[in-house]
Amino acid sequence: MHNANSAPPPKALSARRSGPLKGTVPVPGDKSISQRALILGALAEGETRISGLLESGDVHSTAGALRGFGAELTAEGPGRWRVVGTGVGNWRSPRSELDFGNSGTGSRLVMGAMATTPITATFTGDASLKSRPMARVVAPLEAFGVTYEGQGPKALMPLTLHGARDAQAIAAEVATASAQVKSALLLAALNAKGVSHISQAWLTRDHSEKMLKAFGARIHVTSCHDGGETIAVEGPARLKGCAVEVPRDPSSAAFAIVAALIVPGSEISLPAILLNPRRIGLLETLREMGAHIDVKNIRSSGGEDIGDLVVHHSSLRGVTVPGWRAPSMIDEYPILAVAASFAQGRTVMHGLEELRVKESDRLAAIVAGLTANGVATEVTGDDLTVIGMDEVPGGGTVTTHMDHRIAMSFLTMGLASQEPVMVDDVTMIATSFPEYQDLMSGLGAVMEAP
Ligand code: S3P
Repeated sequence: MHNANSAPPPKALSARRSGPLKGTVPVPGDKSISQRALILGALAEGETRISGLLESGDVHSTAGALRGFGAELTAEGPGRWRVVGTGVGNWRSPRSELDFGNSGTGSRLVMGAMATTPITATFTGDASLKSRPMARVVAPLEAFGVTYEGQGPKALMPLTLHGARDAQAIAAEVATASAQVKSALLLAALNAKGVSHISQAWLTRDHSEKMLKAFGARIHVTSCHDGGETIAVEGPARLKGCAVEVPRDPSSAAFAIVAALIVPGSEISLPAILLNPRRIGLLETLREMGAHIDVKNIRSSGGEDIGDLVVHHSSLRGVTVPGWRAPSMIDEYPILAVAASFAQGRTVMHGLEELRVKESDRLAAIVAGLTANGVATEVTGDDLTVIGMDEVPGGGTVTTHMDHRIAMSFLTMGLASQEPVMVDDVTMIATSFPEYQDLMSGLGAVMEAP
């Protein structure tokens, strides 16, 4: 687990042009669903058994924090966890501050989950998490009666949150296209008296809604004519522990998918990938770019759609990606920018403002990484254009800014560029995808310490 005060020493890695990638990639469990399974398990009465849980730094940080609130969490084998929750409203104040490492999702959802119980907790994390705005979560929670002390107007961590006593239901409009903020409000509503109505103009990932239903919450989603939706949650809720099967993470799969598309002669399989419609914007975009990706055997697992993917090397062409698609591929822009570097023509990506507040300022990190490797870009407001090349020069060193997805994206670039691409630090990859390097090597990718 990462510790706010003892970040692991940086480790550089270089990726170079590799032969055809071949084989099968068992991508680990979905990070969003893993986080939610632990949190809902810790809020529920009785036992929750989880299979396929992502064993990564972020998820382990959340597990540690949930123990601080009084839930019992036990790892019983790789990906198999048993959680015994306290029941909604029964969390206690943790004895020490909660270190969420690099995890924005874990920390923000837990803020919501404790917000309507009269307890106090202090949240901290690594340098990246401490630079991310928490005001977007804690300010909307004030409607429930929460108070907090954070650092400055963005309410940066270390942040102390005082949950509300006798919270009442609210009606709130989520002002950002963020599933984390929406989910924090939904979790807070569980212990507020009455029916809360949480509206959002964007269709962000809906794993919280689906899982809350599976745990027995009274929750109802209505579509609005503006294209958004309103979620009604009744409190106080009684959640019942249940079995959760975590599907494989499409956001982690994205790195292997793009690697196979850009390395000539490649053909790889990715079994049982989560295909929730609100998570597959990258697949749609890559297909528009001419990617040959077969999706087979679509089925349901744990209330989510999953399917088997086969990805073939493809000639890609530039496309325009509309801003409304951003919520369904918000974590995939760094790897899309790499794919776009190898495409014919220009790829224009609209509406990327949310990228500036991820694990790093991803818009800036993408532009710096592409520029360092000889790929031209244009940024106008929140839109990014990548100018594709027949041959991507590579040869640059990329600063990852403690951002796992920046690291994996630029290692992917190095597999097909003329010269190797080096990233300055790959330690953060363990926050979401610890098996990344081994799985890629197994396909034939060449990555070595400089
Ligand atoms: C997540 C939501 C997204 C995403 C993050 C996971 C979630 O963040 O970037 O990796 O699990 O709810 P935002 O809610 O900030 O868009």
